[in-house]
Amino acid sequence: MTLLVDTAAELRAALAQRAGRVAVVMTMGALHDGHRSLMAAARGLVGEAGTVVVTVFVNPLQFGPGEDFARYPRTLDADLEVCRGAGVDVVLAPAVEEVYPRPQQVTVDPGPLAAQLEGAVRPGHFGGVLTVVLKLLHLVGPDVAVFGEKDYQQLVLVRGMVADLAVPVEVVGAPTVREPDGLARSSRNRYLSPGERTSALALSRALTAGVRMAATGRESVLTAARAVLDAEPGVALDYLELRDPELGPAPERGPARLLVAARVGATRLIDNVDVLLGGA
Ligand code: PAF
Repeated sequence: MTLLVDTAAELRAALAQRAGRVAVVMTMGALHDGHRSLMAAARGLVGEAGTVVVTVFVNPLQFGPGEDFARYPRTLDADLEVCRGAGVDVVLAPAVEEVYPRPQQVTVDPGPLAAQLEGAVRPGHFGGVLTVVLKLLHLVGPDVAVFGEKDYQQLVLVRGMVADLAVPVEVVGAPTVREPDGLARSSRNRYLSPGERTSALALSRALTAGVRMAATGRESVLTAARAVLDAEPGVALDYLELRDPELGPAPERGPARLLVAARVGATRLIDNVDVLLGGA
């Protein structure tokens, strides 16, 4: 049975009834297969005897002025069905006033990485993300938190916060879930018209084209990926970057991450993939 709670007090009461390890999956709702895979990973980490908590909260702190906070899809009934189907134990879906009972005075400074990549286009975004993630970690008190690699920079920043602030939780990254044609699953895909959806496929195609050139080196990876994006007029590129797995400068050889962000119509999409540069 999946229990829905909307206050911290109800959550504490629900968790007090349960034994075993606790895993949390934090979401903003509009749940899809990508979230289902995070829930499955969470269950795998705590087992049937443990507790899987999903939070559903559209966090105003991480949206800039002019971003899609107001129109972000809010689909709690459908989200609960997804959680029930995934065998989630507790869903925390708090109101904004429950999470932020007063205007937030104290926030997390996410550090210099937060001004790059997504942060360069969305100033303040990661401060808002890390503030709510830390708060939800305090409210839930999980042993493990599962985040998707789809939001790769978010995952790296959450790991950094947990390490730097000694937050007692294990952070686990879960692979991106894709549509059969390669499009990374995202709650924002529902904004795309059929034509835009076709254009959006250029992002995953570009990443695949880049990975194919991995043995030849950094420049070939970027050139191949950029050629795919340049050939798609429906895609306005924000960035295409090759970094190391911690999002520092890309190495000559070895593990790296290829990241892309672009606007397709009014919708901003991101994707990324791991690349082994210079061969094995
Ligand atoms: O990835 C998301 O959906 C959000 O950034 C998160 C982690 C739930 C914080 O609001």
